[in-house]
Amino acid sequence: MSLENIYPIFDTILSRSDKEKMLKQKSIVIWMVGLSGSGKSTLARALENSLHEEGYLTQLLDGDNMRTGINNNLGFSPEDRTENIRRAAETAKLFMNAGLVTICSFISPTDEIRKMAKEIIGDGYVEVYVDCPVEVCEERDVKGLYAKARKGEIPDFTGVSAPFDAPKNPEVAVDTANQTLEQSHQELVKAIIERIKY
Ligand SMILES: Nc1ncnc2c1ncn2[C@@H]1O[C@H](COP(=O)(O)OP(=O)(O)OP(=O)(O)O)[C@@H](O)[C@H]1O
Ligand SMILES: [Mg+2]
Repeated sequence: MSLENIYPIFDTILSRSDKEKMLKQKSIVIWMVGLSGSGKSTLARALENSLHEEGYLTQLLDGDNMRTGINNNLGFSPEDRTENIRRAAETAKLFMNAGLVTICSFISPTDEIRKMAKEIIGDGYVEVYVDCPVEVCEERDVKGLYAKARKGEIPDFTGVSAPFDAPKNPEVAVDTANQTLEQSHQELVKAIIERIKY
């Protein structure tokens, strides 16, 4: 689509750093990556709770929530997954530029898709790998999706019939197969607080 007749505003009244100053926090996007059932949403909520208790202003963007709202016209083909993440990253960037600590939990399965998210968000993108082998996720099968995928009822299911590239250089990684929820939660809070302290 041509942007020939489009004139975005760049000289906003308050900049991101003005808003960070008002909120006394560094705004970042915490981009949580992992298989279905690895613990992204559980840890995202726990992290948000802890940051809230410490006085930080946050915004949570979760895959399933986005898919019931702004992304409700998208499926799971490679093109739709890319568009899902593109919109999520653009949305996260808006919150980050408003000074908020933005927590995103999306499977974000491929190197390519994460590269795009990182490029959209730019300075402030913090990748968190919620690391858990597919066997453990399948054992948990929180939503019963692995059982459906194995029966062929869900095509393109990440880790079963669609690819997942493990992140190679995440800023933070938590090993949820070998840690309790509380251990992963504490490790994550510690790693994030040092990045958002004003
Ligand atoms: N160390 C841990 N950290 C996070 N979750 C854990 C941990 N150990 C066990 N769990 C459990 O793993 C499950 C993770 O489910 P959750 O819904 O958070 O996954 P998800 O990554 O958001 O999946 P989806 O992509 O389908 O939304 C929860 O039942 C949680 O209690
Ligand atoms: Mg989830």
